[in-house]
Amino acid sequence: MTEMKKPWWKNAVVYQIYPKSFQDSNGDGIGDIKGIIGRLDYLEELGIDAVWLSPVYCSPQDDNGYDISDYQDIDPMFGNLSDMEELIREAKKHNIRIVMDLVLNHTSDEHRWFREAKKSKDNPYHDYYVWRDGVEGEYPNEMKAAFGGPAWEWVPEVNQYYFHQFSVKQPDLNWENPKVRREIYDMILWWMDKGVGGFRLDVIDQIAKEPDRMITNNGPRLHEFLQELSRETFQKGDLITVGEAWGATTEIAKLYSDPDGSEFSMVFQFEHMVMDQQEGKEKWDLAPLPFVRLKKCLAKWQNELYGKGWNSLFWDNHDLPRIVSRWGDDGKYRVESAKMLAVILHGMQGTPYVYQGEELGMTNVRFPDISDYKDIETLNLYRERLEGGYEKEDIMRSIYARSRDNARTPMQWSAGPSAGFTTGTPWIAVNPNYTEINAEEERKDPDSVYHFYRKLIRLRKTHPVFVDGKFNLLLPEDERIFAYTRTDGMHQMLVCANFTGEAAACPLDGKWKDAEMLIHNYGEDPAWSDDGERIMLKPYEAVMLCRKL
Ligand code: GLC
Ligand code: CA
Repeated sequence: MTEMKKPWWKNAVVYQIYPKSFQDSNGDGIGDIKGIIGRLDYLEELGIDAVWLSPVYCSPQDDNGYDISDYQDIDPMFGNLSDMEELIREAKKHNIRIVMDLVLNHTSDEHRWFREAKKSKDNPYHDYYVWRDGVEGEYPNEMKAAFGGPAWEWVPEVNQYYFHQFSVKQPDLNWENPKVRREIYDMILWWMDKGVGGFRLDVIDQIAKEPDRMITNNGPRLHEFLQELSRETFQKGDLITVGEAWGATTEIAKLYSDPDGSEFSMVFQFEHMVMDQQEGKEKWDLAPLPFVRLKKCLAKWQNELYGKGWNSLFWDNHDLPRIVSRWGDDGKYRVESAKMLAVILHGMQGTPYVYQGEELGMTNVRFPDISDYKDIETLNLYRERLEGGYEKEDIMRSIYARSRDNARTPMQWSAGPSAGFTTGTPWIAVNPNYTEINAEEERKDPDSVYHFYRKLIRLRKTHPVFVDGKFNLLLPEDERIFAYTRTDGMHQMLVCANFTGEAAACPLDGKWKDAEMLIHNYGEDPAWSDDGERIMLKPYEAVMLCRKL
């Protein structure tokens, strides 16, 4: 029997690019594809294997490209199709695959299909979307859209409401219609033909909605649709595919990422990222991080998916605040805590994602005024809460902690004008700390967050225990220390990290003092107790050790 080849993405590290904010090449203040091509050397030096590119398709940019008006063309703001082909080709030379972002739950209301669909009920495209009869002013039901307001919008031409889970400009596609599914498959095959390395599937758990039953995610036909999608497209190539699923449990995740490849390579779920919000409330309703619960949650995902599925490992993306500001310390211990968080994440099983600027320890931003913010979700929240009687200061506090714009300020390349992002005026202001935190400085400094990420990424390539090792959480009830082992037939790796700004002793079983140090975030060696059974961890200190079994 031939042994099954391990898929290439099992030891890959993915880098996420938010194109609007990565690198501008023509001075219009907006990042673009040519800008990315110019930074491929940087990405190769970092050591990543694939770039997940947030949407660059034609779009009115109501939700920064997650509202697509043409899946088979590039928005002029980012370049054109031949730039995209060049990016795929050039990236390949740097051993980097390009992963496209597929938004299949909805299109833009300016997509050709929707412009036809709303002309009349007999139009062949009408059924591409989700419509309900009704009377103007009386919504079919009380469902709300994710960015605020009702999930229904009236169209007088057809005397019907259409359904939108996100903004009014993002009408939901009707996956019940086989013609819609076929169009989507053909479009995906067309991109596969162009040599892309894979796809990230936006809010994919919401495609099988059933609004009459108030069902948004995990609809009854979801996995039937996904298996057909995978069969008709992804399985014809050697791709990495990752499904974004806010509503996944470990059981559902095993379906998404079954090793038999019937759906996707992996799931991108958020259970660990929503712990510091008030129970049953919105992400804007802040709560302290329940650290012990966080550890148990991550451990649960590690253990339950072991051998049965595959997870994405991430702290950051374009929808989340910066992790060093959120769960680290972006002041005195910025460098130490950014590295500590990276050690914890990269030591686990799954595929690590690095969101642009995370490798520099970029932080949240605090713009003085709401007019500095651009994100539709943030702006709607501000308006809604103001109308709802909240104090301005309270709303701004939530925005400083949680706005998606925290992740969307321009990439900090240098201490030069606009952080080297553009020669023009950036579409969103640069974080003023770019004079200290930027790629140029960090590349020169061997102790920087940047070089630490490089080293971590390389370790994954050279130590199979990162990929296959079985996870075991140590000290589950400890309020300050995050510690675990990973064990395969040959090696055992230990991660042991202080999650706080105070010293903390980490008890061990004594076999670790002479183990090989894989990576450590302080200049001097860690301090051991005299009996060799405890590491005396400094604030945010993290060590990763490895020994032969
Ligand atoms: C996903 C995207 C987010 C977008 C939403 C609607 O969650 O990551 O940026 O707003 O889907 O497409
Ligand atoms: Ca540009």
